[in-house]
Amino acid sequence: MSPIFFLAFFTLLTTHLSYAQLSCITQKFTNNKLYNHCNDLPHLNSYLHWSLDASKNTLSIAFIASPATSAGWISWAINPTGDGMAGAQALVAFKASNGSMVVKTYNISSYSSIMEGKLAFTVKDKSADYSDGVMRIFATVELPEKGMSTVNQVWQVGPSVSPGGFPAKHAFQPANLGAKGRLDLLSGQSSSGGGIGGDSRTKKRNIHGILNAVSWGILFPVGIIIARYLRTFPSADPAWFYLHAICQVSAYAIGVAGWATGLKLGSESKGVTYNTHRSIGIALFSLTTVQIFALFLRPNKDHKFRFYWNIYHHGVGYSILILGIINVFKGLDILSPESKWRSAYIITISTLGAIALLLEVITWIVVLKRKSSKSTKPYDNKQQPLAP
Ligand SMILES: *[C@@H]1O[C@H](CO)[C@@H](O)[C@H](O)[C@H]1NC(C)=O
Ligand SMILES: *[C@@H]1O[C@H](CO)[C@@H](O)[C@H](O)[C@H]1NC(C)=O
Repeated sequence: MSPIFFLAFFTLLTTHLSYAQLSCITQKFTNNKLYNHCNDLPHLNSYLHWSLDASKNTLSIAFIASPATSAGWISWAINPTGDGMAGAQALVAFKASNGSMVVKTYNISSYSSIMEGKLAFTVKDKSADYSDGVMRIFATVELPEKGMSTVNQVWQVGPSVSPGGFPAKHAFQPANLGAKGRLDLLSGQSSSGGGIGGDSRTKKRNIHGILNAVSWGILFPVGIIIARYLRTFPSADPAWFYLHAICQVSAYAIGVAGWATGLKLGSESKGVTYNTHRSIGIALFSLTTVQIFALFLRPNKDHKFRFYWNIYHHGVGYSILILGIINVFKGLDILSPESKWRSAYIITISTLGAIALLLEVITWIVVLKRKSSKSTKPYDNKQQPLAP
């Protein structure tokens, strides 16, 4: 079971790692441009770098995002009159049919009227480039009002551009719809718009996210690592069993709390349901509940059914591990928090994966040595010290 398990584990990690980008602080520009501020925008893996020249009332920006597909577009806009798409004065970049990157300006006076042309403010210079799956828009704009220090920004990514050079509609996922907010040009703080009531809901979603990431995403894997690797060492018996049980029971308790917050959020979320996330959540809750109760039905270690019980216990355990990690990423997609949270989780789970891999190697060395010196059977057949 273990090679398949590790393969699945690392395939999962690497696919998600390729999405991970570092914070804007580490981003450098090939044209040696330097900006005074940068911000990891809270949605769509996007970043904004900028410098404000208050005496000239100009704002130089670099906007970085990954288009939805390689033939897609990215866009950053200031909305001088509102906080969403309607009214936005947008800079849109994409690859033109001759292969070079272009930046066009669009006056989005309403959802139905998107006109290429002049903006409500002067755009002094604009350019774009595209490399490693990431597009960058560079521009200097004259701010609509003198002395402005906050602007409403809107950003977006889209999948394609028509042959005539018109950007196609973007997706309407929560991350697309949430890609807007107020930006303080002096302090560098950005806040997502969301209107009244948005904040307590965001807080609930964050609590749900943290509880579940800690439980399903971290504690359960740690508990499995403890069970799998500590018991190779006779001196760790029966400590490993208690550690494993404590870890999984607390993970279960936190997980059930997180699960309940999820149900509450689901019942409050009218119109939008996240089916996959929800189904995996329900499956996880059922599997772990069965797992906890199966503990009481565990046959004695010499019992002939103990072998089957072990297969069942490990099978369900690894399924919980994989589903739990998948669902943390599904949740991150829905919540789309600042990218540092996703990065933090990826780093944590990769570290656990690396530790598990190392322990796997050590275990095999120990087991093979034991086998050759004593010519006894490998631990897999003799293991399972009994819990008291
Ligand atoms: C490519 O096309 C864009 C407009 O579609 C034009 O502005 C640009 O100059 C062209 N570039 C080259 C190298 O021909
Ligand atoms: C943008 O479009 C609206 C509606 O068509 C128009 O009233 C406004 O003047 C336009 N803005 C610019 C800068 O052209």
